[in-house]
Amino acid sequence: MTHTAPPRGLSSPRRFVRAAWLLLAGSVLAGGLGSVARAEETLLPVPQTVSVSNGVASIGGGIQVVWDTRPSPLLLRAVARFTTRLTAIAGPAGRWAPYVLHISAGQDRTYLSVDEKERYALTTSATGARLEAEGPAGVIHGLATLLQLVRVTPQGALVERVHVEDAPRFAWRGLLMDVSRHFDTVETIERQLDAMELVKLNVLHWHLSDGAGFRVESRMFPKLQTVASHGQYYTQAQIREVVAYAADRGIRVVPEIDVPGHALAILQAYPELAAQPLPDVTAKGLNLNNAALDPTNPQTLRFVRVLYGEMGGLFPDRYVHTGGDEVVSSQWTKNPAIAAYMKAHGFETAAALQAAFTGEVAKIISAQGHVMMGWDEVSEAPIPKNVVVEPWRASKWTGTATQAGHPVVVSAGYYLDLLRPSAAHYAVDPFDTKAEGITAEQLAKYPPKHPEFSVPFAMDEHAPPLDDGQKALVMGAEGTLWAEMVSEPMLDGRLWPRMAALAERFWSAQDVRDVPDLERRLPLVMAELETTGLQATQHREAMREAMAPGHSEPLKILTEVTVPVRNYALNHLAAPSGDAMLSAPVAVTDPDAFVALRFNAMAARYVRGERAFAAPLRQMLQRWSDNDAAFVTSAKGVPVLEAVVPVSHAVALLSRAGLGVLDGRDGSAWRMDANRLLQEQQAAFENSASMLASAHSPQPPGGLLIAILPGIRALLTGGAERAE
Ligand code: ACM
Repeated sequence: MTHTAPPRGLSSPRRFVRAAWLLLAGSVLAGGLGSVARAEETLLPVPQTVSVSNGVASIGGGIQVVWDTRPSPLLLRAVARFTTRLTAIAGPAGRWAPYVLHISAGQDRTYLSVDEKERYALTTSATGARLEAEGPAGVIHGLATLLQLVRVTPQGALVERVHVEDAPRFAWRGLLMDVSRHFDTVETIERQLDAMELVKLNVLHWHLSDGAGFRVESRMFPKLQTVASHGQYYTQAQIREVVAYAADRGIRVVPEIDVPGHALAILQAYPELAAQPLPDVTAKGLNLNNAALDPTNPQTLRFVRVLYGEMGGLFPDRYVHTGGDEVVSSQWTKNPAIAAYMKAHGFETAAALQAAFTGEVAKIISAQGHVMMGWDEVSEAPIPKNVVVEPWRASKWTGTATQAGHPVVVSAGYYLDLLRPSAAHYAVDPFDTKAEGITAEQLAKYPPKHPEFSVPFAMDEHAPPLDDGQKALVMGAEGTLWAEMVSEPMLDGRLWPRMAALAERFWSAQDVRDVPDLERRLPLVMAELETTGLQATQHREAMREAMAPGHSEPLKILTEVTVPVRNYALNHLAAPSGDAMLSAPVAVTDPDAFVALRFNAMAARYVRGERAFAAPLRQMLQRWSDNDAAFVTSAKGVPVLEAVVPVSHAVALLSRAGLGVLDGRDGSAWRMDANRLLQEQQAAFENSASMLASAHSPQPPGGLLIAILPGIRALLTGGAERAE
């Protein structure tokens, strides 16, 4: 499983200009606006306060920085990145006077810690700009804001006049990358760090070890890379490079080596530490998550001590994540020696034994000068209060862990591998206590095959809200992208723009919750990120070409109006064929499907009487209807495309129904067909509307859901109402 990323490089400015114009045309259509969107309407994350003055300033001569305080090398590099990005967005500076940006920055000894000073103030006037920050983090954030104020217009590049005062709501704004399930090269990691900087994220939680592979060079335990990495691991020099690259961008790197569960890779290298005989890793259907360390073997704690000691030298951050999730009881209870140990020492359950192990790990991490962090399971044990708990199964653990006095970093609600759209994740607040988890209603509808597995995931419908003391313990949150179904070429598109939506949830005020406004800004930020280095579009193009060489346009059109099935339905669907689904149409879909969102918004406005939308709607529907024949031709002899021909047919039928409404065509037969199909496709959405539904229900061909259903339904019902 090796993936070669296409060569890195900045996209041409022309591409951004084109993207900006398309978006502008889109916003004119969607909003009836006659002018370029105002600056404060494009910033993401939304700052704490923005005031806009009338007028704009030309930056056609580029932006020249004047330092009012002595800049560190780190700040000089931040400005150099800003200049490179500005050129990528606005093109080379003209030969007239530059726009002058004065920067003053305080010293911040807490830079790159949870206490760092991130506040900044930015003023842009007709003649120049001023950025004031209490430390390097604020300068980095202020430059990111200024970059988002840049407009490329036919009159040249300009910035709008604003005054921004800004600071984050949460100190910990993270992104988890799982490089065990699918490895990502340093170049790919660094590309994500660049994007993170531009939306003000500040923690990379690097999940470096799991059942599928161990990904860091260890000098103390070299079999970890020689036996358990399949040749895909980071050398210690590469780790240092990434840590430095992140530090330059205001991003801390928190490593995770997951113990005592999720340990199959470690155990392939050091089987003597295993609780059970190692499974045959080539066996079909093997659960790679289950293998666990034997906590009663004294060598296990020695291994953990030495390994974390070595890793602690590579990762300077104060926090070290030791996992602790999903330990399968039978790994221990079915080992007679462990069972005897438990009896002798009074551990009645595997959880009690894990608690004792976790306590030892916490002591080790503390003795090494770090603070331990673990998944919410660790909070079910008496552990030191300073251990940071990461709620993931359900946000009720945000309540219980803070009640017990633990700081928390929340990931429940922010699992991007569930493939929900941005809006769904954006709706979850880090202070929530009733988000996520299996509800009583879901349990009644889908009685689980293994009830005992559902209990730990159950939602607490009576969970009380956090009080002020508990809120103060919420350090922040993280978006997580577990990579079972994410190969390296898919990464940029699976992470972004949804991670940008989360960046706003973690940075902006709690009452910034307007979904249409978010959905309007996400394509803009995506254009910014891609112009400055992100490669989601480029990789999707390459993947489509690999599926349909020379004939990939019909696939592009189909995947613009479809989204992947949700809540791990894709994992279930893909399981029999291993990684094959990662080279199938679903791999190039975007859970946000902007084209479909735009269609749905226009259709809603059309049925409310805005008839000007008839022409663009007709054009879209005609294109989707016509695409079917082209798709069928391109799919011939290509199994992954042939598999989704029924989806292409369904899109075409629905599109023709939409055209029928717009054309005022008579007849009830086509309406009945379309209504039946709408119902069928709506049921497909319901079949992956929760993790239980996904595990128990049939899924649509190729895992593709049709994303234009709301718009088609609006046209059909709106049309029917008019006819009555
Ligand atoms: C997890 O998703 N097992 C933390």
